[in-house]
Amino acid sequence: MKKKAGLVLILAAAAVAAASVYLLCGAPQFSVDATKTPARKIDPGPKEITIRNVTKETVRYALQEQEPGANVKPRTRTLAIGAIDRFPAVQTVSVTYKKDGRDVSYSLYPGRPYSFRYDRAGAIDIYQGAHGRADAEDLAPWVPTPPEVIVKMMDMAQVNKNSIVYDIGCGDGRIVLYAAKAFGAHGVGIDIDPVRIDECKANAKRDRVENLVKFILADATKIDISKATVVALYLLPESNELLRPKFEKDLKPGTLVVSHNYVVPGWDAKEIGNATVIDLEKIEHSVFLYKK
Ligand SMILES: C[S@@+](CC[C@H](N)C(=O)[O-])C[C@H]1O[C@@H](n2cnc3c(N)ncnc32)[C@H](O)[C@@H]1O
Repeated sequence: MKKKAGLVLILAAAAVAAASVYLLCGAPQFSVDATKTPARKIDPGPKEITIRNVTKETVRYALQEQEPGANVKPRTRTLAIGAIDRFPAVQTVSVTYKKDGRDVSYSLYPGRPYSFRYDRAGAIDIYQGAHGRADAEDLAPWVPTPPEVIVKMMDMAQVNKNSIVYDIGCGDGRIVLYAAKAFGAHGVGIDIDPVRIDECKANAKRDRVENLVKFILADATKIDISKATVVALYLLPESNELLRPKFEKDLKPGTLVVSHNYVVPGWDAKEIGNATVIDLEKIEHSVFLYKK
């Protein structure tokens, strides 16, 4: 996963910002590059920053508030595998850690979730997260799939009016909404972010497909997906890997799993197709199709 995305400036504009990040940096991404984001005043009042360790090793790092007058002293931290560090902040906090033997620093913004993950080269890096909940996996931050890619995904999965399309981490609902509008398919979108689910419901109303779609606010790893005929994914590769046993257990034989940009590790034998899509911004995307 390439690192280089810009941090979103306000939470309310997260979707737009995420799309910009995507367009600027191409796929795959989801990373942060706070070094390119100028320091700025944040609304007063502490907001929690979370850092999750999604790597397979303990991560050491230092935190330091960035702006003058900061009352938090520099401090070193050790984060165990799977653990979450959480601390309140009223302004940006820099995190410094070793990457390939060099110290690298990034700015973290109050109220935002982050994760240490491996980059494509296997080095530890910090990325935006979706949430800081300890009781749920962070499958991927909110980054929308472009419409051209959705068209291809639904085409490859041969979605039709008899399909039941589940989107695991549905963002603003665009995949199931497209399936409903274009084909009259039924759809279920699941997302852990209440802001996204509110958007989904408003979008379903706007598109007049409320009778065909359902949106569920939940940890998608804990939801029954056995009714799906098609499962859509745009998650991090390690999240696809995490979900694979669930797919193997829950999905009916013949269910199609269509994934934007990332393979389902361990499912090579089930891959029945793949394609490349160039979006309107000339960014290349991959689509992988699997049959359970
Ligand atoms: C990369 S976005 C994909 C959105 C949409 N599927 C699309 O392709 O446009 C990933 C979404 O997964 C959601 N997510 C992350 N962890 C989750 C979890 N444990 N359960 C449900 N949704 C989750 C995030 O909130 C985010 O909206």
